[in-house]
Amino acid sequence: MTSTVPPAPVPTPVEAVRLADPYPCYARLVAERPFAFDEALGAWVAADAAAVRAVLGSGALRVRPVGEPVPAGIAGTAAGEVFGDLVRMTDGAAAARLKGAVAEALAGADLGHAGALAARFTREVLADGGEAPYEELMFGVPARVVAVLCGLADGADREAAAATADFVRCVPASATQADHHAAAQAATRLRALLGPAGQADGLLRELGGAAGRRGWTDTGPLLSNAIGFLSQTYDATAGLIGNTLVALARGADAADTGALVREVVRHDAPVQNTRRFAAGAFTHAGATVEPGQQVLVLLAAANRDPAVNPDPHTLSPGRVNPAVFTFGAGAHRCPGGELATALATAVVTELRTAGWNSTATPAYRPLANARIPLL
Ligand code: HEM
Repeated sequence: MTSTVPPAPVPTPVEAVRLADPYPCYARLVAERPFAFDEALGAWVAADAAAVRAVLGSGALRVRPVGEPVPAGIAGTAAGEVFGDLVRMTDGAAAARLKGAVAEALAGADLGHAGALAARFTREVLADGGEAPYEELMFGVPARVVAVLCGLADGADREAAAATADFVRCVPASATQADHHAAAQAATRLRALLGPAGQADGLLRELGGAAGRRGWTDTGPLLSNAIGFLSQTYDATAGLIGNTLVALARGADAADTGALVREVVRHDAPVQNTRRFAAGAFTHAGATVEPGQQVLVLLAAANRDPAVNPDPHTLSPGRVNPAVFTFGAGAHRCPGGELATALATAVVTELRTAGWNSTATPAYRPLANARIPLL
């Protein structure tokens, strides 16, 4: 008698984020279902470059559900107020004006200074001895540098990094009541550390100046978006550092660490997907998303679409003019990509100098959109 082994269940694109190798799953979607409704997820999935570009460029598709601008669990708390002010989480004319100021402030960040700080903090963490404390290096160091860039010093940078860890707990849809509570306390603490806005320094002062030039006078949202600098840095930059270390452990060409980090951004994206919510109907390639429906946008799949990147599955540091979706596109495109790349390059360079040792086959944190190895 022969027994048949049932086929392995096909992972959803959300489960793929934490697989050792999510890329065959994404490649199948790019080839066979580049823009289609996924019954298991109850959402549309945009997988190829054309669909991802179209979705991120559409005004009908918003960053939050129309009826829930702030997650219910944090509505009415300090975390909810901060969340509701973030340019990342809002659409419309006011958000666009504030986004201009956010982008201008970040474009003026001194990347050389940021990289030097990241290198120094990394050396200090390593000097404490013992096993390389990857958590502190991947999450703590970048967050502390951004805190310093926002004018914090003398231990306040460490405190801000720790509070950021708690604040981001409110972001996943799976957040519990305890996560919401911790995030609310963290938001209050971060406001106290970064404010009052009148005494703003560094990036926060630049943000105030850029906003003022746009006729923006309300300081609350500026403080919220400075907290956003910290929270947007946190998981994503940790993922970029971790995924670069994994690439190195797998034998990546390491002649130029900066070039390697930039190619890891494309090849093994630390932010694998984002979401959009239809406020109006949106049609792409003959398929229509109805108002109220959701779209999962597979940035990491589009990065490997052969229509936009030749030989997309090969890690090629120094690749010429790659099409990269990891930092989004359109109105909500990430303004922190250069900063994140500089921070990750500095941390990885110091770790290599120190003769670090990582694993080529890590497990990944159980997250729905950030790909962060457990090293
Ligand atoms: C490797 C690190 C990073 C990755 C992969 C990343 C990725 C992204 C992506 C995909 C978006 C757009 C989300 C969407 O459209 O749904 C975004 C938005 C944003 N990111 Fe980043 N990010 C990184 C680091 C940073 C850093 C270091 C900062 C600032 C210090 C930053 C600030 C922002 C801001 C302010 C937005 C909101 C922009 C808007 O909605 O208009 N990011 N990021």
